[in-house]
Amino acid sequence: MTLTLVPPAAPATVTPASTGPDPLGVLGVPGQVNLDHAASAPCARAAADAVAELLPWYASVHRGAGALSRRCTLAYERARQTVGDFFGARPDDHVVFTRNTTDALNLLARALPPGTTVVTFAGEHHANLLPWPRGSVRLPVPESPAGAVRALDAALAELRRGATSGLPVLVAVTGASNVTGERWPVAELARVARRHAARIVVDAAQLAPHAPVDVAALDVDYLAVSGHKLYAPFGAGILLGRADWLDAAPPYLAGGGATSHVGAGTHEVRWTTGPARHEGGTPNLLGAVALAAVCAALAGADRAALHAHEQRLVDRLRDGLAALPDAVELRTFSPDAPRVGIVSFVLAGRDSAEVAAYLAREHDIGVRDGLFCAHPLARRLLAEAAARAGRDDLPPTALRASLGLGSTVTDVDRLLAALAALG
Ligand SMILES: Cc1ncc(COP(=O)(O)O)c(C=O)c1O
Repeated sequence: MTLTLVPPAAPATVTPASTGPDPLGVLGVPGQVNLDHAASAPCARAAADAVAELLPWYASVHRGAGALSRRCTLAYERARQTVGDFFGARPDDHVVFTRNTTDALNLLARALPPGTTVVTFAGEHHANLLPWPRGSVRLPVPESPAGAVRALDAALAELRRGATSGLPVLVAVTGASNVTGERWPVAELARVARRHAARIVVDAAQLAPHAPVDVAALDVDYLAVSGHKLYAPFGAGILLGRADWLDAAPPYLAGGGATSHVGAGTHEVRWTTGPARHEGGTPNLLGAVALAAVCAALAGADRAALHAHEQRLVDRLRDGLAALPDAVELRTFSPDAPRVGIVSFVLAGRDSAEVAAYLAREHDIGVRDGLFCAHPLARRLLAEAAARAGRDDLPPTALRASLGLGSTVTDVDRLLAALAALG
């Protein structure tokens, strides 16, 4: 396969919307409208600066006695502390650095005590559907947040009545849907899980970039996050949560760093406890430091103001789409359900991949098209959207516009104008 790389028209720079020393300004290429934050968000200045500052010192982590190495070890462990604090980690939680949310949820899946039943909803991203073991329960997509709470309550009550009533149960839910942007009632679901002595993991890949998430306040047991969706595109994510299952599980990656003693015999090994147990091999220092830098910057930011700005943009986008005769939005819940800056839609009679290509080619606008790694949900919502709109000419895949830090009214208006120009 031949790959053609198109060089940017101008050197990457901080977009005009975010000039100045703002650590939450994002890097970008002038003229390019990035409305694909939900796939990978642009790099925040805080992340880029933290990486640039550490690069001259770059050396091994936990493996060297030299000054460079010791500084890097310190930076890595400080990053862990910062990220843990940002997400409200409790004293007995571990913060394990992973590659991303997928990696984090796979790690948790491997750490489940034997006999654990995982309960999830069919509306999840594949990363929160596919890692779970056979025998997991997949509840239908609910019609409302309250419906989700009721369905979970009923499912857990039934599980607790069954033959496996004493075995562990893990509820696995998203904080915000990557297809619709709709927020899920995490605190209420956590309460239900607690009532039935189940644990709960929240896939916060899409929620964390848009809203504060605190595991202690929400009373959730585990949290999975991707740095590249949180403005820290250096390949780190986290699994944060209760230490006991993690310390009892086989190491996720067997190798250096995960052991406390290795003897001469083939299987003579004692695995360490703590986050290092699951971080075998040389860790991603720059990814961890970048993620921590963004967390620190967000912790010091006016999140309410950021939220209000984002909500204005989402409202503008949704209103604009509603005014286009052929645009149909995808949604699970009622139109006014709380949401983050993600909107999926179709243009009736138009192939979504072609529309996305047109937006890129003619208007320098980047959006996503497809089924967004949430095939069961996206297919269902497409069918529901067709029924709601009374149209039989909706395409089989959708478009998704997603925004966040650095997004502007102009970005939204350019997308709407480009769509309108299709006629
Ligand atoms: C809700 C949700 N969960 C999990 C993932 C997986 O994230 P990653 O690809 O960073 O592992 C995504 C990615 O789009 C997502 O949107």
